[in-house]
Amino acid sequence: MNAWWREAVLYQIYPRSFADSDGDGIGDLPGAIARLGHIRELGADAVWLSPFYPSPLADFGYDISDHEAVDPVYGTLADFDELVRRAHELGLRVLIDLVMNHTSDEHPWFAESRAGRTSPKRDWYVWADPREAGGPPNNWLSAFETCGPAWTLDERTGQCYLHSFTPGQPDLNWRNPEVRAAMRKVWRFWLDRGVDGFRVDVAHRLLKDAELRDNPAELAHARRHVSHPELRMRNLDLPETQEVLRELRRTLDSYGGRVALGEVPITDDRRLAAYFGGDGLHTAFHVAFWEQPWRAAAFRETVDRLAGLAGPGALPTYALATHDISRAATRFGAGPRLRVAATMALTLRGVPCVYYGDEIGMADAPPGRALDVDGRDGTRAPLRWDASGSGFTTGRPWLPLGPAEVNVAAQREDPGSLLTLYRRLIALRRASPALRAGEYRSIEAGPGVYAYLRSAPGERMLVALNFSSRLVSFTPRALPAEGRAELSTGKRLTGTRVSLAPLTLAPDEGLIVRLEEPS
Ligand code: GLC
Ligand code: MG
Repeated sequence: MNAWWREAVLYQIYPRSFADSDGDGIGDLPGAIARLGHIRELGADAVWLSPFYPSPLADFGYDISDHEAVDPVYGTLADFDELVRRAHELGLRVLIDLVMNHTSDEHPWFAESRAGRTSPKRDWYVWADPREAGGPPNNWLSAFETCGPAWTLDERTGQCYLHSFTPGQPDLNWRNPEVRAAMRKVWRFWLDRGVDGFRVDVAHRLLKDAELRDNPAELAHARRHVSHPELRMRNLDLPETQEVLRELRRTLDSYGGRVALGEVPITDDRRLAAYFGGDGLHTAFHVAFWEQPWRAAAFRETVDRLAGLAGPGALPTYALATHDISRAATRFGAGPRLRVAATMALTLRGVPCVYYGDEIGMADAPPGRALDVDGRDGTRAPLRWDASGSGFTTGRPWLPLGPAEVNVAAQREDPGSLLTLYRRLIALRRASPALRAGEYRSIEAGPGVYAYLRSAPGERMLVALNFSSRLVSFTPRALPAEGRAELSTGKRLTGTRVSLAPLTLAPDEGLIVRLEEPS
């Protein structure tokens, strides 16, 4: 049960925006290597790197044209090996993105597939005849609103190919054993290079209805999520997908100590719970978590719901943001709420994942020239290592940087900074069996407060998060009359006594209290 990932804190690097070493304005692997120390200092245990593979950038690297190479803009395979070596030396594990649902339309497999109806690789992708009027074969839609139908007609062969995302990302046909074999080879290619696991891109999408039937009319417009547990979509979340994930798991297990973290963007927690904690994916992002509005009850409900649905040993992964969603500072507002949000993300029962820049409270950068098909440029702005911006690049950054004040250098030495709070939270989590690996139970608390107990043999911690900007007092039931402050996001000093009868939280205060057990 005590696999490393169960007690780990992850850190997501979006390679294009993390650190640039050669002045071309685009982050790269040598840049990331030089900055691994920051992640180590933060206290994280592992990094997840978004795609760095060759790509024509229809979807910024999630359209891969060679799964076994590094795009020259990011460096070389030797740089990748060096990154793994340096990370391991620092005690950091390395997860990479595994994009198996689709390739780029510039991938040689697809070039061969589209070459003709009798091409040996025709069936590696999902091809279908257009409907009579020349329309798409069925009503499936691309996950990206701007892309419309999930089908594009290939004029030359007169058939349509399926793309769950942009037309530059044709879906692979996972019903074809040759595709499976080709992907197994990709897994081994990276596992043999020493990666500690994969973040599995859209893990719920791999298999599609064999007969390509329409989605139920009620769901025809549901693009990203399965929102209705009874009416199943026909282009995602098929039971057969689990077979592939189980096979991936067996491969990972055969190497030992490797992990599969799923990206399963399903907001229906009942469906999501079926994806992790069993013999498939080890863990998966809790998608509904990052979609909650800033309300204590909303977070409590969503965390409790998934906790109740997932198996007893199953741990979800919690992030406040990723490269796909607006940053926490933009959704919740910069300021004290970010401190409360960080306290929550780093004290829940699960695997916390810090999105680069969240530790300094970066907000979405203001829209510039729109590059991404799905409006996600803002959350992908380069990391400001210092006020000048030259810490990211000496050239012109590929996306505009955020405001100069929000930078790593300024927060490093400031005991009151968000970065310092992140470090303290991660250090506390590491030192505390209850926070790191203990049980979780939410408790009744005052209005606007989300509170929970984390407990391990011999240690109990109360986490109380005031989501409101008012002073709140409440008396938690069946707890000792007092405890000791381990950490407060407000002015309260560590080590001071905290009354629990009642407990009074300052406006926007996040508080961790060690409960003293009768000896
Ligand atoms: C995942 C990625 C996202 C990408 C999509 C298609 O959701 O996180 O960035 O656009 O898959 O690969
Ligand atoms: Mg560069």
